[in-house]
Amino acid sequence: MSGTPGIDAARLGRRLETFARIGATARGGVDRQALTDGDAEARALLAQLGAARGFRVEQDGAANLFLRRRGRDDALPPLLLGSHLDTQPTGGRFDGALGVLGALEVLESLEDAGLPTPRAVELVAWTNEEGSRFLPGAMGSQAFAAGALDPAWLAARDGAGTSLADALARTLQALPHVPRRPLGTPIAAYLELHIEQGPVLEREDVPVGVVTGIQGTRWLDVTLTGAAAHAGTTPLAYRRDPMAAAAAALSSLLGTVMARDEAARLTVGRIRAEPGSVNAIPERVAFTLDLRHPVLAELDAIERAARTAIEAAARDARCQAEMRTVFDMAPVAFPPAMADLVEAAAGEAGLAARRMISGAFHDALFLARRAPAAMIFVPCREGISHNEAEFVEPRFVEAGARALMAATLRWLAAPIERL
Ligand code: GLV
Ligand code: MN
Ligand code: MN
Repeated sequence: MSGTPGIDAARLGRRLETFARIGATARGGVDRQALTDGDAEARALLAQLGAARGFRVEQDGAANLFLRRRGRDDALPPLLLGSHLDTQPTGGRFDGALGVLGALEVLESLEDAGLPTPRAVELVAWTNEEGSRFLPGAMGSQAFAAGALDPAWLAARDGAGTSLADALARTLQALPHVPRRPLGTPIAAYLELHIEQGPVLEREDVPVGVVTGIQGTRWLDVTLTGAAAHAGTTPLAYRRDPMAAAAAALSSLLGTVMARDEAARLTVGRIRAEPGSVNAIPERVAFTLDLRHPVLAELDAIERAARTAIEAAARDARCQAEMRTVFDMAPVAFPPAMADLVEAAAGEAGLAARRMISGAFHDALFLARRAPAAMIFVPCREGISHNEAEFVEPRFVEAGARALMAATLRWLAAPIERL
């Protein structure tokens, strides 16, 4: 191949704007949760944009959506580029969308330049990366990596009682003319562009993060059960108050885990008291725990500490504790050769880069089980993400797409196919 096609930053900017309108919130963010009508609309638009450029559009049984630009030898497994189009309930415009639309920009720029590639380059929009509507997160990429959807997931229900099975069927049916492909078709390698979702790159004014790995994540569902009783008449000695247990356990965990180890993360993002009456001691308190650490043994230790603190607090309040691990991703290190490739590609594109690990999980974590994978980060304002205020400066959007294009061309010129 000769000549490096540029990317069209203005087109990519417009595309980001257009997709941000699908599920736009009043405060400038996006609510396009997985497998909702908004998600289906975004998928339909992506399919339409791909078809208009002559890319082959396909979906698999997990509703992962693929656009394929043919290569000279189309029998070779493709280089896959992508990310996700679903968002948090109060999400931003760039988390996921940048990686999908950046990949589209690469495919279109190759097409504009009339540049044949030795093999196909495919774009993928993974289903349900966020995991906030249906567990687990990174559902589409996990199913792809495993070659099948876990049947246990299909019964998952969202807050309104809709099952994953129904939402998935509706989403697939919304693109009736898009053919199905089997889950987990062979790929040669995977590249994902994403916003950093943390403050490091912006603070250092470095446009490209070369992601060397992703820290581990574990989600627990915790339920504390006591006894409902009158708020006004029940003295302390008679109370079996699960809120007292939750408060004690959480104040101890939130006050110690991260203070002891600055790499540790512990978050309670959802909490519910039942029956939820102002003047009744709740019978049950349920909450989620999101635990993260780059080192698996440390993540295990945080989970043990959490379980011990919760059990002790439950005992003290004469309540029962039930804890279930509902999501578990071990940390991953990307192949060093892939990180080297991204770093060299950024250099070639004249972009300063620094190596870093990802604090957020990503679909690439699961793809790394199937093929050499790498990620490119770009800075986002104040590191804010999972928030409607999420923002990426146009110069960094452009830098990300240029780095992705350069990495794509570099990989195609000298494929790294072995894990
Ligand atoms: C991904 O959305 C994460 O929570 O890390
Ligand atoms: Mn994301
Ligand atoms: Mn996210």
